[in-house]
Amino acid sequence: MNTMIEVKGLTKVFKTYKRESGLKGTVKALFKREQIDVTAVKDISFNIKKGEIIGYIGANGAGKSTTIKMMTGILTPTNGVVTVDGRIPYEARTENAKHIGVVFGQKTQLWWDLPLGETFAILKEIYQVPDEIYKEQMAYFDEVFELSEFMNQTVRTLSLGQRMRADLAASMLHNPKVLFLDEPTIGLDVVVKERIRKAIKDMNARYGTTIILTTHDMSDIEQLCSRIIIIDKGALLYDGSIDTIRQTYGYERKFTFDLRYDDGDAIRAKFETLLTNIDNRTLENLSYTLENNQLEIVFDRNQINISGIMNIVLQNFDVLDFSVKDMDIEAIVKGIYGNGI
Ligand SMILES: Nc1ncnc2c1ncn2[C@@H]1O[C@H](COP(=O)(O)OP(=O)(O)O)[C@@H](O)[C@H]1O
Ligand SMILES: [Mg+2]
Repeated sequence: MNTMIEVKGLTKVFKTYKRESGLKGTVKALFKREQIDVTAVKDISFNIKKGEIIGYIGANGAGKSTTIKMMTGILTPTNGVVTVDGRIPYEARTENAKHIGVVFGQKTQLWWDLPLGETFAILKEIYQVPDEIYKEQMAYFDEVFELSEFMNQTVRTLSLGQRMRADLAASMLHNPKVLFLDEPTIGLDVVVKERIRKAIKDMNARYGTTIILTTHDMSDIEQLCSRIIIIDKGALLYDGSIDTIRQTYGYERKFTFDLRYDDGDAIRAKFETLLTNIDNRTLENLSYTLENNQLEIVFDRNQINISGIMNIVLQNFDVLDFSVKDMDIEAIVKGIYGNGI
């Protein structure tokens, strides 16, 4: 069988209590609390093949972590079923744990008060990693994550980047068949992000590890995943190749200029004339808005000469500040709703 993960009709409803604000609400809550349902994951189905790297993406609160928690056995679904390598994770938690690796970027899986070296020694025993393989793995981790720098420090004293490198190494130590990485690059600088991406790629290439990755970073996705699953408000929105998304949205860039001016209409007219002077396609191939002294230009970087536009704006207007942004996940989700795919 080629399928590693099967998710069918997966649903998770959390029961929570409505909170009213103020003292009155607090007192009232002591006597009668109104229960509400939050549907975090709604009837999601997909299959993942052995050796795939999947980007599992969506806006904040879309239900990504809840899905990962059901796939790793931490939570039990309200409806539907998950199988990972033939096991139902929330029914066979201990057995399942031997075959998977998990990283939650927001929360370490390591023991806060232990020196990192001891942590790995304990994990070696838990997972019964043979001496030879342990040596090999630790040497490899040291190479990609440079762990020896802080091997004697307790986990609580590590920086975020060091901690994430340690967490990743710990999740990979027993060479799991499946790796679940929930925001493994969140809050990290570019250099650490690159290391982490390299390790993920290596792991997949050397051992055929199946990897599920949630991230907000479009570069993670572009560099690592050929297939992405997008969820929104708990429901599946897209499951397919990254190329299709890239062709439709991935090359869009947004320039934002803060301008000083009094007459917006005059600026608009001048801007359009300048664009028309470049050639007669430029104006057609971009969209822009001018509001509250901000000029926002959205364009496809394959169709538009970026430096041409930069020059025009910088030379002809009073620019106070500017920024450039890649297309982000929220914008892609909006785009799919608006225009389809
Ligand atoms: N233990 C919980 N109890 C109640 N609501 C929860 C719980 N965990 C998550 N939620 C809610 O479920 C939704 C999805 O959360 P989550 O899976 O963490 O989203 P994401 O990881 O995509 O940001 C959110 O509305 C969140 O507030
Ligand atoms: Mg999350």
